Amino acid sequence: MYALIINGQNITVGEDKKLIAVLRNDCKLKSVKDGCSEGACGTCTILADGKTVKACVQKVSKFQGKSIVTVEGLSEREREVYVYAFGEAGAVQCGFCIPGMVMCAKGLLDQNLNPTRKEIAAAIRNNICRCTGYKKIIDAVELAAKLFREDIRDLKAKTISGVGQRVPRIDTAEKVLGYGEYVDDMEVDGLIYGSAVRSAYPRARVVSIDCSEALALDGVRAVITAADIPGNNKVGHLKKDWDTLIPAGGITRYLGDAICLVGADTPEIVEQAKALVKIEYEELPGVFSPEEALRPGAPSIHESGNILAHEHLIRGDAKGAIENSAHVVTRKYKTPFTEHAFLEPECAIAIVDREKRKAVIYSSDQGTYDTQKECSEVLGFEKADVHVINKLVGGGFGGKEDMSVQHHAALLSWHTGCPVKVKLTRKESILVHPKRHPAEMEFTTACDEEGRLTGMKAVLVTDTGAYASLGGPVLQRACTHAAGPYNYQNIDIEGTAVYTNNPPAGAFRGFGVTQSCFAIECNLNLLAELVGISPWEIRYRNAIRPGQELPNGQIAAPGTALVTTVEAVKEIYENHPRAGIACALKNAGVGVGLPDFGRCRLTVEEEKVHIRAGASCIGQGLGTVLVQIACETTGLTGDRIIYDAAETNYAPDAGTTSGSRQTLVTGEAVRRACLELVKDLQEASLKELAGREYMGEYLAATDPMGSKKKNPVSHVAYGYATQVALLNEDGTVEKIIAVHDVGKAINPVSVEGQIEGGVIMSLGYALTEDFPLDKGKPTAKFGTLGLFKADKTPDVESVIVEANEDPLAYGAVGIGEITSIPTAPAVQNAYYRMDGEFRTTLPLAHTPYSRKK
Ligand code: FES
Ligand code: FES
Repeated sequence: MYALIINGQNITVGEDKKLIAVLRNDCKLKSVKDGCSEGACGTCTILADGKTVKACVQKVSKFQGKSIVTVEGLSEREREVYVYAFGEAGAVQCGFCIPGMVMCAKGLLDQNLNPTRKEIAAAIRNNICRCTGYKKIIDAVELAAKLFREDIRDLKAKTISGVGQRVPRIDTAEKVLGYGEYVDDMEVDGLIYGSAVRSAYPRARVVSIDCSEALALDGVRAVITAADIPGNNKVGHLKKDWDTLIPAGGITRYLGDAICLVGADTPEIVEQAKALVKIEYEELPGVFSPEEALRPGAPSIHESGNILAHEHLIRGDAKGAIENSAHVVTRKYKTPFTEHAFLEPECAIAIVDREKRKAVIYSSDQGTYDTQKECSEVLGFEKADVHVINKLVGGGFGGKEDMSVQHHAALLSWHTGCPVKVKLTRKESILVHPKRHPAEMEFTTACDEEGRLTGMKAVLVTDTGAYASLGGPVLQRACTHAAGPYNYQNIDIEGTAVYTNNPPAGAFRGFGVTQSCFAIECNLNLLAELVGISPWEIRYRNAIRPGQELPNGQIAAPGTALVTTVEAVKEIYENHPRAGIACALKNAGVGVGLPDFGRCRLTVEEEKVHIRAGASCIGQGLGTVLVQIACETTGLTGDRIIYDAAETNYAPDAGTTSGSRQTLVTGEAVRRACLELVKDLQEASLKELAGREYMGEYLAATDPMGSKKKNPVSHVAYGYATQVALLNEDGTVEKIIAVHDVGKAINPVSVEGQIEGGVIMSLGYALTEDFPLDKGKPTAKFGTLGLFKADKTPDVESVIVEANEDPLAYGAVGIGEITSIPTAPAVQNAYYRMDGEFRTTLPLAHTPYSRKK
């Protein structure tokens, strides 16, 4: 027996298990999040006798007699202060790291009510936040210290009243205090657990699967193979090439392939049973790079061969333009796989009624309707009979687009008749979900004697791993943006996405543009050198201006403010000896003629307006944005507007949260629905409108790829940016200045949070992050991915430029992705200016951040 005091209560524990299990499972203290179970992320941080401790590391015997405090144990005053401070600072995004951060803050402020920013950063240095870049978390702790120190009371958050307002997010309190539910926090009667047995080899024939011993184990409810799937085995949002389970006789394509599923009463029994499943394999040679996969005679990973997608974009006469140019530069570049490292591992709970053919799936994903479609096909149900409900989503960044656990939970529930939870371990998460594509690129860029760009030619090859995921569209965006945000029209861009036996690659913040932007921006600096002008000057001369034609033929909109972003950094760039610069553009919305709908349903209930849209908030703050748009349009205040999380029964399909699209497309749908409500509000009060419903829809209509129009509209909007990286004399990063043309900032504090988080994520891409593979096997753990920590993170100065008069969503253009695009080339340019070494591979070599291989 072990005796502890938990949040002031005496607790005895019989079994010597991990402290996190006692806190989460026995005491139901769900603020203690399990982000990795391996001591590497900090989401489980609690205080033990006043010291911060990771609850997932040690067993309860180590805490005998100690006083444990979790967020649930904070005093009323502390709760009020932390909610106010984190809200006011804009420190909350997906929220999964936040209770752990609050405990770090308490640990510090209980000792020191006047900490420096450096001391705050040191206090949170063992806790990873993938969303915020830490700046606003440090702001929040600094503010909390002031509120305690000066005993400032009456802390009331501002009421939301419209767009452009710096206002705390609507989900602040539930995330700071840890009562907001992620899927893993749900308590469901009769819940059992499930997990997949995954392939022992990246490529092997599954000769036989023997589940008999596993099935015989006490507490095991089901062990199922592909033969037990009632519907389709194949999933995939666009191309259905991904096996839910590899059947006996089938061939595996990567180490993350699931071969059978085990459902049992406890997670421990699941693991025991998995070890009892006997799978006989015939190991086959695999291919682990596009080069190997494209060799004559290479084994085919899919029946269609090893090429997933091929793009060839031609406008004007690139060859002629390059031949006749004063200056030409050709370079090869290479970028790596990147892991999303969202803090909440994939988790789903499914409750399936096989007789009634109905399913409910609680999911952490980027598109409830995608999950509904995929799971209904696997179960063989009608789509409408699968109700998908988004719980809080602890980050996505593109990595929660595909099926990972939802279909497995649904199948196990179909077979057992029980509610089933499937949660990936951090190791599985790192192995299973699609990564950012590694790319090999050869770029030729040409300009005239004044440095005006004349033409470019590019060849890109991406490793799309074992399955298609969104590898086709990612390649397409890499190609369509490869010429950069500049005014020239001779392009020849060829891209190929190649299957290999590596983990799949798919969507990742930047969607392919992170890769091609690195190449074009680095080439531009070499051209500037040949011309004899500065990297700033070449960008200023070529930056796309309103009314000019982008390289893809689209006319730049009147609100295009790239030049303003370039001008904003002139002084600092030109006067700092170790400054690097890069520009970028990024589409908002799916574009290229594909269906791209934003939709919402407004209902008036008890004098409040509910917003329901099937658009996932994955941490970016969509709910707050939609409430602000509703307030602006109706004149109602935020206390009258309720945002309900995405689900598929009542909230209309608004597509996936991807491509920086939701603020624009669903924001516009909400504006449109609100305009209808406004008409009725002129005649009646909200009380009198009880039960009324208003549907909003917006189709972002665009022209398809290959359109014959002279000036096709490929995307309804583009965001633009210029970023500057400044280095200290010792080569460490002093600061990143990120100037973003966002059209209109619906909530400036949220926009800054997106910029700061996106920049730091890509600073990792530039300098520290890698995802090494050994014959398809990831060798990194969460703790060795190279994620930036708070005490090593430089300052990010975000500057918002607003010049869009377009009424669509009040002029907002998505900000989620572009924040991550120009950072790496800006940093590359800074090192080149500092030491003359022109680096062409990420992460950049020979910097103070370089890791010994
Ligand atoms: S869950 Fe404990 S450190 Fe990650
Ligand atoms: S808010 Fe920190 S990980 Fe999402």
